[in-house]
Amino acid sequence: MPRISQILIVLVPLVAALPIVVAFISKQYPLLFPGYRSGSHEADIDLSIPSLFAMADIHGDYPRALAALVHAGVVDEEGNWKAGNATFVQTGDVVDRGPDTQKLYKWTRQLTAQAAEQGGKVVKLWGNHEFMNAMHDWRYVDPGDLDSFPPPHEKTRMEAFSINGSIGSDWMKDYGVTYLDPVMKAHFMHAGLDYDHSRDFNESLGVQFMKKLLDGHRESRYWTVGERRFWGSSGPMWYRGYATLPEQDACAEASQVMKELDAEFLVMGHTPSFEHAIIRCGGHVLLIDTGLSTAYGGRPVVLEMRKKKVGDVEVRLHYDDTGDRHIIEVLPLS
Ligand SMILES: *[C@@H]1O[C@H](CO)[C@@H](O)[C@H](O)[C@H]1NC(C)=O
Ligand SMILES: *[C@@H]1O[C@H](CO)[C@@H](O)[C@H](O)[C@H]1NC(C)=O
Ligand SMILES: *[C@@H]1O[C@H](CO)[C@@H](O)[C@H](O)[C@H]1NC(C)=O
Repeated sequence: MPRISQILIVLVPLVAALPIVVAFISKQYPLLFPGYRSGSHEADIDLSIPSLFAMADIHGDYPRALAALVHAGVVDEEGNWKAGNATFVQTGDVVDRGPDTQKLYKWTRQLTAQAAEQGGKVVKLWGNHEFMNAMHDWRYVDPGDLDSFPPPHEKTRMEAFSINGSIGSDWMKDYGVTYLDPVMKAHFMHAGLDYDHSRDFNESLGVQFMKKLLDGHRESRYWTVGERRFWGSSGPMWYRGYATLPEQDACAEASQVMKELDAEFLVMGHTPSFEHAIIRCGGHVLLIDTGLSTAYGGRPVVLEMRKKKVGDVEVRLHYDDTGDRHIIEVLPLS
């Protein structure tokens, strides 16, 4: 008969090793333990506050965008909304480089309606490629995209991207340039706002500009000084400072801009980083364009923000190729 102490000698290390074993198995078989990740603290999340999801540049690739959103739990395999009362933000550049333009805009329209039925919300922002298509700058249009419009392809595509066309009218109905989420205090836009533009940023200037382009005033001679500045290389559709500046400069700018916008996070796409999202400034600057389109072949990622029971926000990145869910450590704002 083994003595109690002998049993304990065996049992104690086994019990102690259990979390490591679970962590190992859950990494191998994530579907068995959907909530479990080392570093994740499910119990700390305030489940009454809906999730916020975001995805950046899709560039004409429906299958890869779908797979990423399925993996993150935003939609089901058929692409139907299944995130209940969550918010999903798309930060622009749905079009160009890939063939699925029409399919993607149609899908987004459908998701918007489905989300609304479930108490959720889809926020759609324009990127520089939406503006380029409105300007008839078609340098990056995929042949498959063009062919998806009935002949004469060019003409019907132009009509779709005009003010009363299928895509243009949808854009004017519920797209925009920026979104500030009041719960997560996260500010979303396509490329980024530098300090100069953040001080007098005017959402309706961008919307009026798009309207003007879709209405046929595509050449710069029709544009106001403000519209030219908006479309400039340091304007919100093109700025790359948060991706390219040295950490110290990027974060000094981000901190001023966040103050200006009353935001605690700046989230953007536009500048792809193919291996993983770029997280800077203690988790407050999130660049989530990973070049997910087959045109680039990067790793698709979906950002998720959850409010914790005490105070801050948990930032997660869902990578669909490995099933990884990374929890970003967010440092207090200085
Ligand atoms: C959102 O949905 C979750 C899950 O169904 C629920 O627990 C929560 O109370 C809802 N929150 C709001 C604000 O509707
Ligand atoms: C778009 O539709 C509106 C309202 O029906 C109309 O007034 C306008 O002339 C149309 N614009 C174009 C460019 O067709
Ligand atoms: C914002 O831009 C719109 C369109 O250009 C203009 O009508 C409006 O006055 C501007 N608002 C502010 C606060 O500057």
